[in-house]
Amino acid sequence: MSKLHDLYKRTYSLSEEKDEEFFNCVRDYYFTEEFQSLKPYIQHGSINLIQHINSVSYMSYRIAKKLKLDYYKTARGALLHDLFYYDWHDPDPSHRLHGYFHPGFALKNARELSRKNELELSPLEENIIKRHMFPLTVIPPKFKESILVCLVDKYVATKEIIICSSEKRSKSFFKEVKGDNK
Ligand SMILES: [Fe+2]
Ligand SMILES: [Fe+2]
Repeated sequence: MSKLHDLYKRTYSLSEEKDEEFFNCVRDYYFTEEFQSLKPYIQHGSINLIQHINSVSYMSYRIAKKLKLDYYKTARGALLHDLFYYDWHDPDPSHRLHGYFHPGFALKNARELSRKNELELSPLEENIIKRHMFPLTVIPPKFKESILVCLVDKYVATKEIIICSSEKRSKSFFKEVKGDNK
C-alpha cells in the first residue's frame, strides 16, 4: 500500500499522547467549544467534519515537516480550513454554492474564534483557509504551505468519497484501520 494511504489511515487514531507535537500545534483551537461543535456535521457518508479536518491537518503537518516548511502554521491553518457551522448537505438556500463560499465563511469564523481566544491568525494561515478550494475558487494559493493544504484536502476528499461509495469499501477500510490499531 502507498505511503499516503498509510498516512491517511493514521489520521483515524490520533491521540494527545502519541501525537503530542501535532496537538501542541493545534490545541489552542482544537479544544474550543466551537471546533468541537463540528462533530455532528457530515462531510462524506459516515465521515464527519472533524475527522475530515483531522485528516487534512495531520497529513499536511506531516508532509510540511518532511519538506521543511512551516509545519506549525500549516497544521493550524488546515485545522481551520473548513470551520463552518452547518451541514452542507442540508437543502437550505443559504448553503447554495457551498463550494464557492465556504472558504470565506471559514475565514470569518476562524478570525472570530482567534479574537475570542486572544490568538492571532498569520497571513499564511489566512491564505491556507481562503484559498484551499482552488481551482474552484479562481485565485490560487500564495504560499508553499497553502498549496500543500489545497492538494491534501483534495486527496482526503477523494479518499472519503471512495471509502463511502459502497458499504463493502467502507467496511474494508474501517477493518483495515482497526487492524492497524490492534
Ligand atoms: Fe473546504
Ligand atoms: Fe476540506
